[in-house]
Amino acid sequence: MTDHTGRAKRPSLVVLTGAGISRESGIPTFRDADGLWAQVDLEDVATPEAFARDPERVLDFYNARRRVLLSSDIAPNAAHVALARLEESWPGDFLLITQNIDDLHERAGSKRVLHMHGELLKARCTLCEEVHPWPKDITLADTCPACGRGPMRPHVVWFGEIPLHMEEITQALQACDIFVSIGTSGTVWPAAGFVAEVAHRPHTRRVELNLEPSEQNALFTEHHHGPATRIVPAFVDALLADVRE
Ligand code: APR
Repeated sequence: MTDHTGRAKRPSLVVLTGAGISRESGIPTFRDADGLWAQVDLEDVATPEAFARDPERVLDFYNARRRVLLSSDIAPNAAHVALARLEESWPGDFLLITQNIDDLHERAGSKRVLHMHGELLKARCTLCEEVHPWPKDITLADTCPACGRGPMRPHVVWFGEIPLHMEEITQALQACDIFVSIGTSGTVWPAAGFVAEVAHRPHTRRVELNLEPSEQNALFTEHHHGPATRIVPAFVDALLADVRE
């Protein structure tokens, strides 16, 4: 339903986040100069082939990242908190899709979150595929609490694997009036293609919030560049003021 200006009265909102939103919480991104892929070759730690070749190396990589995530100095920042506030106050449908495997959105209070690249604090059985909460190291000796057999792997989506929740994500993108992308370089598919899917409907508002223009920059109708802790709360305030008008 729309008002006399043609705007949806209860606009449907989809937010996509990437590593940039968690950087000011102390979690490195992937492709910045100090990012993870500048330190480690992703082919060695983030593919099914790497896990088959050297599972200990892959487990060590994710165990180290999990320890960082659980260390006392990591906490959600003002951008995560602003998105939880946005969800709480939003009058229409709301979905937060994150490429991040950290749990900082949940810690900030977000409820409707889909982790399309999995979750660092979960482990999956390589045999029965059951997913379990796993807030500790995964070792080669661990077996699945459900079937008692399978070795465990991180519940993360590696390069070459299919992202999670794609059906629900596609439906939300097809129905959304406003699409907001935060802290992602727009280089990894299918997430990089979400803005193009939304752009098929020309009246959709498409907002990029990022430190710098992303690869998909040209497909957005609106851009705010700067650190997430500054630009996300400001954008959320303006958006909520707009829908309350
Ligand atoms: N505020 C906002 N944006 C920031 C900030 C910040 N403080 N710091 C960095 N950025 C931006 C960078 O400019 C960059 O465009 O965040 C983006 C991070 O890009 P990537 O490192 O490529 O992270 P992301 O887009 O989430 O990567 C996608 O790639 O390796 C995989 O699975 C991994 O989910 C990840 C996927």
